[in-house]
Amino acid sequence: MPFGRLTLLATTLGLAYAQKYTLSQDLAGQNFLNAFKYNESDHDPTNYGNVKYLSQSAAVAANLTYVDGNGRVIVKVDNKTNGVTDPNFGRNSVYLMSTQPMNIGSLLIFDAAHMPFGCSVWPSLFTQGQNWPQQGEIDIVVRLLLLTGPAFVNLETNNRFSLKASDTCVQPSSIASNQTGTITSTNCTVVPSQGITEGCVVTETKQNSFGSGFASQGGGVFAMLWDANGIAMWYFGRSGVPSNIGGTALPDPATWGKASAWYPASSCDPTKHFGPQIITLYIDICGAFANPPEIFDATCGTKAPNCSSLVQDPTNYNDAYWEINYLRVFNQVGSNASTSGSGSNPGPSSTGSGGTSSTSSGDMPKKTSAASVGGARMRELLFMSASLLGLLSL
Ligand SMILES: *[C@@H]1O[C@H](CO)[C@@H](O)[C@H](O)[C@H]1NC(C)=O
Ligand SMILES: *[C@@H]1O[C@H](CO)[C@@H](O)[C@H](O)[C@H]1NC(C)=O
Ligand SMILES: *[C@@H]1O[C@H](CO)[C@@H](O)[C@H](O)[C@H]1NC(C)=O
Ligand SMILES: *[C@@H]1O[C@H](CO)[C@@H](O)[C@H](O)[C@H]1NC(C)=O
Ligand SMILES: *[C@@H]1O[C@H](CO)[C@@H](O)[C@H](O)[C@H]1NC(C)=O
Ligand SMILES: *[C@@H]1O[C@H](CO)[C@@H](O)[C@H](O)[C@H]1NC(C)=O
Ligand SMILES: *[C@@H]1O[C@H](CO)[C@@H](O)[C@H](O)[C@H]1NC(C)=O
Repeated sequence: MPFGRLTLLATTLGLAYAQKYTLSQDLAGQNFLNAFKYNESDHDPTNYGNVKYLSQSAAVAANLTYVDGNGRVIVKVDNKTNGVTDPNFGRNSVYLMSTQPMNIGSLLIFDAAHMPFGCSVWPSLFTQGQNWPQQGEIDIVVRLLLLTGPAFVNLETNNRFSLKASDTCVQPSSIASNQTGTITSTNCTVVPSQGITEGCVVTETKQNSFGSGFASQGGGVFAMLWDANGIAMWYFGRSGVPSNIGGTALPDPATWGKASAWYPASSCDPTKHFGPQIITLYIDICGAFANPPEIFDATCGTKAPNCSSLVQDPTNYNDAYWEINYLRVFNQVGSNASTSGSGSNPGPSSTGSGGTSSTSSGDMPKKTSAASVGGARMRELLFMSASLLGLLSL
């Protein structure tokens, strides 16, 4: 498509998505797993889940994270251990945080064939600043949502997008026609001392964007663009993935149509409320959002008296896994993302992580995987050969 047409399209949409991109992080297979730290903890103090997050070595030994025979990354909940004899049983899971933060001027693309689902199962894919909530949070795949009532928790079908910020940040209701998703709550501000808030939530209208429906159509792609114009998120079911996603072409959000969720800078400053973002992927069980009886009963009440009583039985967790084709981060050419570095390695340390540490010097995109070693040319070559091997697309 000629550049003039792209510009016209972008103008028509009223969105400044017409930018050029370079590949910064290309995470698939073992590269994906090497790019994350495992945030080990005995329980989930934030969301009160009935879960234990394993260290990397323990998770690998328990086969909770591995690359399957199709080259896809599996990230799963333990569905082998019978916890019936332990009244305080916490099921093993993993909580992954990227070693390499994303900077403003970045586009994240996540392609999965399956996401975790089932009663009590709570998957999350989001990015968060190192200081939370001062540096913000961008929720790409989340299940929660107390405000919107019981109908959509535990076995819901539609994904939610959200932002969380510590200062004044809203999604204006006038934005309704600039996005395809439904405005669900407009206040992005979270004040931890005031308890759990869900941020400014947009509900995806496509019914296969979450849970079993997502998996049954072969999964799909989530994309998140964070730049000085604002924050935009898209969802594409497997049959609707744009041709410039997933292959050797560079992504071109200007051709994707309206975003599912669009948070313009005019009412939420993306430079001020969001710092370098750590990509976070985990699976929680029960916890604050799935456990309250009024939420649990609505979709899972016929299965058990309460959420906690499901946790001990491993057969409830056969669908509780991510099956990931790839996660890629692209930088806008000329943006700060391609030149600046945070120089820090956020998150708790893990043993044996193969991810390289970030560097704050130089004008090359930062290194995370082998794909960035050797500069742009090498990245392109690896990018192409990986695609040719069929690792990166269905
Ligand atoms: C919303 O769309 C209208 C119509 O295309 C456009 O004029 C306006 O600039 C857009 N607003 C934002 C904040 O994207
Ligand atoms: C690690 O996981 C726990 C939940 O078990 C969470 O409360 C904590 O915030 C996570 N650590 C970081 C640095 O996000
Ligand atoms: C992990 O998978 C390997 C290979 O399939 C198997 O031999 C091993 O027993 C599994 N370990 C556990 C703890 O399930
Ligand atoms: C947004 O939510 C925060 C946190 O609950 C609250 O302090 C603030 O007053 C709310 N803002 C508006 C405009 O309702
Ligand atoms: C990019 O970096 C420059 C210099 O550090 C800073 O002044 C500017 O605000 C940054 N722009 C964005 C969009 O973060
Ligand atoms: C959940 O249900 C089980 C079985 O009825 C009961 O023993 C347990 O106390 C309940 N737990 C909570 C947290 O309500
Ligand atoms: C656990 O879940 C996986 C994936 O759904 C499935 O293949 C396996 O048979 C399940 N059961 C056990 C005991 O591993």
